[in-house]
Amino acid sequence: MPNAPIGRHHEDDPGLLGDTYDSPVELQRRTLVGVALTSGALSACQPDGTGPVDAPSSSTAAAAAPPPGSRRQRGVADPLPRQRYLGLQVLDLADGADVRRLLRDLGERVLALGSPDALTVTVGLGPAVVRSVRGAGSIGATDLPAFGSDAFEDGAEGGDLVLQVCADRRATVRSAIAELLGGLGDDVSGRWALDGYRGEVDGVGARNVLGFYDGLAVPTTAADQDEAVWTDASDGLADATLCVVRRIRLDHRRFGLLPVAEQEATIGRTKRTGVPLSGGGTTTDVDLQAKSGSGVFDIPNDAHVRRAHPLFSGAGRLMLRRAYSYRSAPDDQGLAFICFQRELDMFVRTQNSMDGGDRLLDFATTTGSATFLVLPGYDATTPLGDALFA
Ligand code: HEM
Repeated sequence: MPNAPIGRHHEDDPGLLGDTYDSPVELQRRTLVGVALTSGALSACQPDGTGPVDAPSSSTAAAAAPPPGSRRQRGVADPLPRQRYLGLQVLDLADGADVRRLLRDLGERVLALGSPDALTVTVGLGPAVVRSVRGAGSIGATDLPAFGSDAFEDGAEGGDLVLQVCADRRATVRSAIAELLGGLGDDVSGRWALDGYRGEVDGVGARNVLGFYDGLAVPTTAADQDEAVWTDASDGLADATLCVVRRIRLDHRRFGLLPVAEQEATIGRTKRTGVPLSGGGTTTDVDLQAKSGSGVFDIPNDAHVRRAHPLFSGAGRLMLRRAYSYRSAPDDQGLAFICFQRELDMFVRTQNSMDGGDRLLDFATTTGSATFLVLPGYDATTPLGDALFA
């Protein structure tokens, strides 16, 4: 996709702040005890930053390297700063559908799509299907509990099968979805869907519809992701992850009427730079203990980053959030919240902690929700979903 001129807002962008589309993007590595900038994320992108490296650079490497995504599915941890569009399709399966055959066919179709415009397709199964295949004790077999902040609309709750399709161009997302849905046949029907976009990416990241940088504090080292995101054999299924999707409408107008200092106190980071109110740089970890001279916590008790912080919520480890925005109508905009974690409880504890007193929720309505088991990776010889039946 040709680069947009610096400072020009994309047609799908609500026109927030600081667009520098050509700027180098620095993703961040963070553990619970610290944050450090790294160029590691950039090494997974094309030299011009247009997307992930899909092919090895030499024939020797081609022989040695496994196909991308063969061990773990793509679209989860791939650092794709320019993968700006999301198309999420939540589907139901007919009673008696042959799940194994359906997944095999789907996997083949995904592989056949290739990776134009940094396209990734991530496939997950809902808890009811996992239960039917592997029993109630399996990872991925548990439904989300009800939360106090739930207010679902239009049947946007749950589902048997998810396709998370991401790419640099919206047209590529749409045509991939059309291609995949067209091949799924009568055993599959649509339940709900969500289209998302990311604001322009600058040297810090992308902003959400409230104008704040989103997706900063996430596990980015392989070690942190192994610990917090990916399952291993001890979970009964290796190289899978649990995805939670929440469609969260945000009252951006009412939020925008707050003085900026109040907006910042609500989030717990500064609006212009993304720096935590406890100080440091954009990449500094939030310090929950920091206090001003008058003995008041720098990060207020009801600030989002305190309530969602893994040490405060009891989640223990940082979930991997992949932040997209959505806009269905002028008065229906918000966060296409997607996160990945090894245990569903990490999400549940975080949401419960927010429900217990996060001021951000005064501006948020969760209108859609689902959880899925993102299946292990696959390739031409190891079909999608076969690991479930092992
Ligand atoms: C209501 C809509 C939401 C908005 C607008 C929002 C926005 C933000 C922003 C701006 C940050 C700070 C920058 C960053 O680290 O990415 C943040 C951090 C975070 N959010 Fe949210 N978020 C929302 C909902 C949620 C939900 C539903 C969860 C999970 C249940 C969540 C989990 C987190 C976590 C874990 C952090 C990192 C906290 C830390 O610094 O340790 N957020 N969010």
